[in-house]
Amino acid sequence: MRLAIGAAVLLLCCGLVSAAPKLREYKDGKEASDAAKELGSMNGNSRKAIFKQWKRNNGKDYADDSAADRAAFAAWSDNLDAVVEHNKKSGVKFFKGLSAYSDLTFAEFKDKWLMPDRPVSDIPVVPSAKKFSPGGSRRQLMQTPPLEFDWRDRGVVPPARDQGGCGACWAFAGLGAMEIKARIDGTQLNPDLSEQQIVDCAGGGVGANGFGSYGCNGGWSNDAYGYVAKLQAVKETAYPYTGVTGTCRDTSVSLDGSLTMTAQPGFQGVINSAQAIMQAVSSTGPVSHYFNVQDSFYYYSGGIYQASQCTADTYNHAMIIVGYNATAGIGSPDSYFIVRNSWGNWGVDGGYIKVQMMADDKGACLMYAGLMLPTTTANKNAGPAPVPSPSPSPKPSPPPSPSPSPRPPPPSPRPPSPSPPPRPPPPSPRPPSPSPSPPKPSPPPKLNCKGKSGKCVSATTQAGPAPKPKKG
Ligand SMILES: *[C@@H]1O[C@H](CO)[C@@H](O)[C@H](O)[C@H]1NC(C)=O
Repeated sequence: MRLAIGAAVLLLCCGLVSAAPKLREYKDGKEASDAAKELGSMNGNSRKAIFKQWKRNNGKDYADDSAADRAAFAAWSDNLDAVVEHNKKSGVKFFKGLSAYSDLTFAEFKDKWLMPDRPVSDIPVVPSAKKFSPGGSRRQLMQTPPLEFDWRDRGVVPPARDQGGCGACWAFAGLGAMEIKARIDGTQLNPDLSEQQIVDCAGGGVGANGFGSYGCNGGWSNDAYGYVAKLQAVKETAYPYTGVTGTCRDTSVSLDGSLTMTAQPGFQGVINSAQAIMQAVSSTGPVSHYFNVQDSFYYYSGGIYQASQCTADTYNHAMIIVGYNATAGIGSPDSYFIVRNSWGNWGVDGGYIKVQMMADDKGACLMYAGLMLPTTTANKNAGPAPVPSPSPSPKPSPPPSPSPSPRPPPPSPRPPSPSPPPRPPPPSPRPPSPSPSPPKPSPPPKLNCKGKSGKCVSATTQAGPAPKPKKG
């Protein structure tokens, strides 16, 4: 009760004098350091009041002063100290902040959300994957990519997903890139495909269904592409996300509205250089990649994450490059890739991070490892609303085994996904760049998607607290 009154008093007073200190998404160094000074000088009661407010904003339901609450507050408080200490420094290029996961220590977070650390040499070589070649294989024209590019400006990037406490980033990165490619290709207007199918069916351990990933315990995005190219990705609603590795049931789900890729193994490799990535992204589509996540990454909340933050030579995560800005020159601390994560509304802009664009062949935090560009997408089965595809029509595929038995969808756990909602696509896309212009997609419907539940609903029908993500 005292705390509740404290919060009200704090809100009241600060509403009159100045706004409550910002906890995340700092736009520049001044905003970050001003907030840090304020946060750093708070007394214990104010800190608790801010914590309560943070809990409310992030759908945390543990009771005040329960054991879980005390543990969460201890971790949160340490995380806040780390944020304050970093953001007070002058000249930092990126800022730390609190996310929906700030009631966990980095060690706790790492254990559930990241893959086990692996050397780059463990990334499978897929001999059948062609290398992306700008300008086509015959002409070999070196196209000059634009200095800035962002697929989000063209309305083809769905809201960032939320993998929950399951190390299936490899599936989210591959499938996420394919979803964006489907929108670019005009194959599907609002693709929301099942990561759970990939986790269960391509992630059952070495040799399972011909794929060798490990579900929530890690894996490789080439398995996601390969699975979809060989079979299909079904809709999220047909095979909802649980965030735990389960038994593959790809023969018993509806194939309506499923997506496939027209060329095996579903992706092209991209040469490990900033220039090649810029070419691939601006001319063709998003590129998935691996990454070395350190604790500073976990705290990222604005600015440009610098390559100097990583020294390890192992990777433990996978994400998607959807754009870049090389205006300041490749290798400059001010040039960056726009990377879409799969941790819900983390980072900036509803799930993104800007990572320094390096001139070497490794990239910041090994991000030039395992670069994969999805090949052309195709509708596998006529869904409820088939969209004419501008790309070469896919080969007819044999009809699926009959399986129309409708099963009630299990309750899908919805990982916490705080407001604000991911940013909506702008009304009009930017004029096409001089380099090979991708087919212009029609603007997608405005949706409000909460996490990887795949529940995209209009804002008015959305309600209810977010259940906790399950551990993988
Ligand atoms: C791209 O980078 C340049 C140079 O750092 C900067 O001035 C510009 O604002 C950036 N563009 C965007 C869209 O942020």
